[in-house]
Amino acid sequence: MPVSQWHLFDDAPAVAREAARRILAAVDKAISLQGKFSIVLAGGSTPEATYRLLVDADTDWSKWHIYFGDERCLPMDDAERNSVMATSSWLDHVTIPDKNIHPIPAEQGAEAGASAYGLLIADALPFDLVLLGMGEDGHTASLFPGQRHPGSELVHAVHDAPKPPPDRVSLSRKALSDCRELLILVTGAGKKEAVTGWKHGEDLPIASIGAHDTVDILQDKDAAGA
Ligand code: 6PG
Repeated sequence: MPVSQWHLFDDAPAVAREAARRILAAVDKAISLQGKFSIVLAGGSTPEATYRLLVDADTDWSKWHIYFGDERCLPMDDAERNSVMATSSWLDHVTIPDKNIHPIPAEQGAEAGASAYGLLIADALPFDLVLLGMGEDGHTASLFPGQRHPGSELVHAVHDAPKPPPDRVSLSRKALSDCRELLILVTGAGKKEAVTGWKHGEDLPIASIGAHDTVDILQDKDAAGA
């Protein structure tokens, strides 16, 4: 597994700008090498600024293939869905073909959603880029500290999640790590404790995700305690 590279930025907008730059560099590389680009999107609030910046990108949207790292078990149009956040901030404003956008069917329930999405992503691996955030407890996607899942699964059904809603669908550590590039965005003072634990080798879910080529963590000064 490649060594994680930590990068420090003044604030969240600077992290978003660098994340957009890195994603577009990965796109250019993937399209030139293989004629397409697959990305796993992060949920939560941190990546929204990056998604908004991507709206104005000069890229061949027809070559993009969109997957999600996790999803909350809520109705498809629920404002708390990760797919709704990505769609309203970015995907609705660009011309990625609908057939290339793959939301997790978490509205079917955790088990049914996980089963269906596992079949889908089995054919999508390896991803070109996985984008992740991190919670204040060191969780990522819907992989939470203290929760165990079968290591062979590509997609997990999650229950009793400490971050509401309790029922979720999450790509597994195995699936999230099956990527060329891993890009992690961490901003805000609320993440400082988890960042410190991570840097000191704490066994956090975020720390267990790898990649084939590069792992880059973009942190702002608040999250780094700098
Ligand atoms: C979710 C996300 C989750 C998120 C972290 C950070 O469904 O909640 O996938 O893993 O990335 O909780 O969330 P913020 O970016 O809002 O701090």
